[in-house]
Amino acid sequence: MAIRQVLAICAVLATVLPVAAQEKSVTLFADPALQANGLWDYALPRFKLKTGIRVQLSGESADVRIIANAGEPLFEHISGGVVYGVTLEQDGPYATRFMDWLTSDIGQRTIAAFRVDDQPVFRAVAVGEMVEEAKLLGNAGIGEALALRKCGRCHVVGESNKYAGIGSTPSFAALRNLPDWRRRFSVFWTLAPHPSFTQVEGVTEPFNPASPPAIYPIFLTPDEAADIGSYVETLETKDLGGPIRTN
Ligand code: HEC
Repeated sequence: MAIRQVLAICAVLATVLPVAAQEKSVTLFADPALQANGLWDYALPRFKLKTGIRVQLSGESADVRIIANAGEPLFEHISGGVVYGVTLEQDGPYATRFMDWLTSDIGQRTIAAFRVDDQPVFRAVAVGEMVEEAKLLGNAGIGEALALRKCGRCHVVGESNKYAGIGSTPSFAALRNLPDWRRRFSVFWTLAPHPSFTQVEGVTEPFNPASPPAIYPIFLTPDEAADIGSYVETLETKDLGGPIRTN
């Protein structure tokens, strides 16, 4: 093959390969004060559920920047009064989608629903008004059936399997009693022991082939996870279980 042809092929590959390898992702530089309180652990998986786009926190330059007192106002720290704003640093379809979500009603509700010790932390300002706490928008009836099938071998999920489950595993009713139960259920696949055996379609990474799950895995879609959350919301908050280790 002539050198010129080889070079031509290399040039073609160079333009095609990065696109093929590209994940739907966007980088975010966020004020360190925001990283400390857990807002991103709460909000970013929700954005990914909706869009399939992963937001990666970056310590340096990033596609999107959220800092105090700059950019388009997004939310206000309720106790400190500091307003955080967003700036698009690097234009691109995913960065734009993330910006749109942050300023949308659903993005603003997500941020307003974030709680620490059962207290809201931020007031949404992009829509110019206080928004109500977001519900886990799912179908509770479907969620109950799913919970029994997928979670019931370890957890007591309700009356229907109250003598089942594993004694050392907290019941859903006991978890529902915790002030931040909503956060726990909205990211339960990131909390031990679930990551080693749980996959949420389009959200979690595939299992590592070198260390496959030691027990029968759980597969869920994002909608099914929301259905389970809605079912848990209907549980009465009476104390049924022993204490659980908190993370
Ligand atoms: C193989 C057993 C097993 C299965 C299946 C399982 N869990 Fe769990 N789960 C546990 C154990 C054990 C804990 C307690 C962890 C602890 O105390 O740190 C737990 C804790 C939790 C917590 C609280 C986590 C925390 O750290 O706050 C949530 C929420 C939860 N599970 C949701 C679910 C849901 C929803 C399903 C079904 C889709 C499910 N689990 C399926 C074993 C399981």
